[in-house]
Amino acid sequence: MSETHPVPARVSEGAVGPVKSLADWREVRQRSADDPDGFWLGVTKERLAWATEPTRGLDGSYHTIMDGPIAWFADGRLNITVSCLDRHAASQPDKVAILWEGDDPSEVKRITYRELHEEVSRAANALKALGLQKGERAIIYMGMVPEAAIAMLACARIGAIHSVVFGGFSAEALRDRVRDCGAEIVITQDEGLRGGKPIPLKAVTDQALEGERGVKKVLVYRRTGNFVGWTEGRDVWWQDIVPAQSADCPATIVDAEHPLFILYTSGSTGKPKGVVHTCGGYLTYASFTHATVFDLRPDDVYACVADVGWITGHSYIVYGPLANGCTTLMFESIPTHPDAGRYWDMVERHGITIFYTAPTAIRALAAKGDEHVTRYDRSSLRVLGTVGEPINPDAWRWYHSVVGEGRCNIVDTWWQTETGGIAISPVAPATPTKPGSATLPMPGIFPVLMDAEGRRMQGPGEGRLCIEFPWPGQARTVWGDHPRFVATYFEHYPGMYFTGDGCRRDADGYHWITGRVDDVINVSGHRMGTAEFESALVSVEAVAEAGVVGYPHPIKGQGVYAYIVLQDGYTAGDAIEAEMHAACRTLIGAHAKVDLFQFVPGLPKTRSGKVMRRILRKVAEGQPEALGDTSTLADPSVVEAIVAGAKV
Ligand code: WTA
Repeated sequence: MSETHPVPARVSEGAVGPVKSLADWREVRQRSADDPDGFWLGVTKERLAWATEPTRGLDGSYHTIMDGPIAWFADGRLNITVSCLDRHAASQPDKVAILWEGDDPSEVKRITYRELHEEVSRAANALKALGLQKGERAIIYMGMVPEAAIAMLACARIGAIHSVVFGGFSAEALRDRVRDCGAEIVITQDEGLRGGKPIPLKAVTDQALEGERGVKKVLVYRRTGNFVGWTEGRDVWWQDIVPAQSADCPATIVDAEHPLFILYTSGSTGKPKGVVHTCGGYLTYASFTHATVFDLRPDDVYACVADVGWITGHSYIVYGPLANGCTTLMFESIPTHPDAGRYWDMVERHGITIFYTAPTAIRALAAKGDEHVTRYDRSSLRVLGTVGEPINPDAWRWYHSVVGEGRCNIVDTWWQTETGGIAISPVAPATPTKPGSATLPMPGIFPVLMDAEGRRMQGPGEGRLCIEFPWPGQARTVWGDHPRFVATYFEHYPGMYFTGDGCRRDADGYHWITGRVDDVINVSGHRMGTAEFESALVSVEAVAEAGVVGYPHPIKGQGVYAYIVLQDGYTAGDAIEAEMHAACRTLIGAHAKVDLFQFVPGLPKTRSGKVMRRILRKVAEGQPEALGDTSTLADPSVVEAIVAGAKV
């Protein structure tokens, strides 16, 4: 019998969300199964402000997806910023929408719904003045300042499509994304600020745009005021153009399926995919899951400390919370600045009730000692969330008992860039939890486990996680490459969406995510493709071949292990390692760091030349005894050398 934690009474009492108890969960789920169209039409009409209400639910299916994307609410029309701003500016103008905490704890800004509505309207008018039109793309390359959220909403206001690029990505990575989406404009800052260190966002943008003709304008928010390079005629200061605009900008009404944003994410190839989310379905799902999972209450002070550069920031800092009219925190800094008590200091100062972070941060903070937590008053907390990677039971227990003092429910939320919102998770007031389990699916989500032979598994067991029916928040396509979308997600198991994750289901029907089963590694919750690392590494002249896998890392979840085959005439050593580090930094970004290099005489390959990654993985996981059959290898002696020189 595994350890189960009941929902604390103070979390279930007074619940207001769409699901208040397990009985509710069963009932709502049944409705979503019996009549998905009716269910989701009901949800969207209740939660969003439509200009023309939809009468249609789902169009298309996973069986027809090769012919074109599915659609939800196809005959509805709306502008999602009306749901996020106008209606709250009218009904609760003085409520704080964005509570911003800067890098330095003394820097706090409170932006009310009235102010946010006005500021987004001004920014939208500025984008129009700069020539951005409906359907055109804007890249947003910023740190965690309110203007990043304002820029996203301003694009949505005029029907433009944004693509936020995480501020840690390099100039090369930024340029790839600018090109892939055909951006007209880049919105950035002079510098970001994290942990007291400036991040050269404008300088990287300049480098990325060197020789690029497509981008007509660069809008630059002045954050630090330090000197930056300037291209006359192209660059415009935010502070020069936005405040001068009218605070009235009528929302451009678009079809439900108009794209809202593109977010690039790593997959099995070296080229990141531009995952496309559309307006009506995405916002419906973000709003519904945010209200449901956290049991959002009117007085909640909600804090998700992710970055807007990732999907968590899109769905659960900006779109879900604002659609739900709540106070959402934006945090510019890092959890250890000025010390490891920063999160709990914020909890005390702002009276945070819902706190949402990642396992990597939880593990890192647990390692710093409980006194950083216990010296602050955390009695306001009710729900503690985690996302991004599997959480190990020890970290879960620390979060539950030290941070939450046993008074909060923990919601271990499993989802992906592609799912748009939380798909498997406890519902705070309803679901008893087990440390390390994402527990039960959301209404409308029907997970299926597939065995090695591609058969659907019944009852308890471990297999590959698929989802059987479409839901409104699901990604619609890969920008400019629908065949890739179909091939990546829908061809492995016909009639199902394949998540790329492994999962175990226990006798209670609870889900335990075991991690990626494809060539994606999850380092500190940052999703990266092994192929991206490999192509960066082989760009170094001395490197002939590279094989990259993940391995268990006590803080980061997974570390990056690189097997390197050198060109003839080169000798392994610090100089080459330094060059390889630099290549990853330049071609991917500062967050893409190899933890361990092992120089090997060759990579294990089949006789047809395919790298046997399973062997690389087992050695990196410290399980050389579990290599299995190596008789099909072209050169078995390579394996002996790999095992002998293993770094773990
Ligand atoms: C992993 C982040 C276990 C998973 C929202 C997934 C998780 C990938 C969890 C998506 C969780 C996310 N437990 N694993 N609670 N949440 N993952 O697209 O492998 O950045 O496929 O979206 O993170 O990462 P992405």
